[in-house]
Amino acid sequence: MANIPGFSKNVMVIDHPMVQHKLTLLRDKETGSKQFRELIKELAMFEGYEATRHFQLEPTQVTTPICQTTAYTLKGRKVAIVPILRAGLGMVEGILELIPAARVGHIGLYRDHETHLPVEYYCKFPEDIETREVLIVDPMLATGGSASAAIEFIKARGVPSERIRLLVIIAAPEGIQTVVDTDPRITIYTCAIDDHLDESAYIVPGLGDAGDRIFGTK
Ligand code: PRP
Ligand code: URA
Repeated sequence: MANIPGFSKNVMVIDHPMVQHKLTLLRDKETGSKQFRELIKELAMFEGYEATRHFQLEPTQVTTPICQTTAYTLKGRKVAIVPILRAGLGMVEGILELIPAARVGHIGLYRDHETHLPVEYYCKFPEDIETREVLIVDPMLATGGSASAAIEFIKARGVPSERIRLLVIIAAPEGIQTVVDTDPRITIYTCAIDDHLDESAYIVPGLGDAGDRIFGTK
């Protein structure tokens, strides 16, 4: 995992060779929906590993077939995964395989095609979200409007910034800057920082429309 100079120290790029290989397959326009969904799930799981690296452990006693020893278990962290609909849904399963006890909240946002601004259409969180570590998931961080709106919704429910993490697959520099401007205490995990946004606010080179590729809607 690498920090990128010039960006906030809170941006973590997952530069693992397996991740980069899978990301290349994901970008390929010839990759169909089935494989695209599988890759998104696998990459989300890799990111989940990194985004839970700070979790604390506590000692416990365990008896192996050989002897008793001190070993470690997670120290009472509760997690909420919050996908930004639709494309964020593709990342949920991979993280749930890692953290089966996590609860899942949903934020429904779409980008207006003219203004590129996020429009909210649904929001439902676990009742005790303010006590949880929150992982917001969405494959694409483009202008950053959707992620920033999601961060503000979650903070308004009483979750401190330090407990909110944003997991994306590809980030544009513009989107990172928007999130840092919204709240520099949020940690962003991404598999790549791409070059720029085009005139339609799509990430270049990117992977196209993540929601359409996951759900086969175009
Ligand atoms: C995509 C993506 C993000 C958003 C990123 O969703 O999944 O939510 O765009 O763009 P931004 O950083 O400029 O806000 P989209 O609006 O296409 O909706 P969808 O997931 O329903 O396809
Ligand atoms: N949303 C996407 O799905 N792709 C982009 O490149 C930008 C926003």
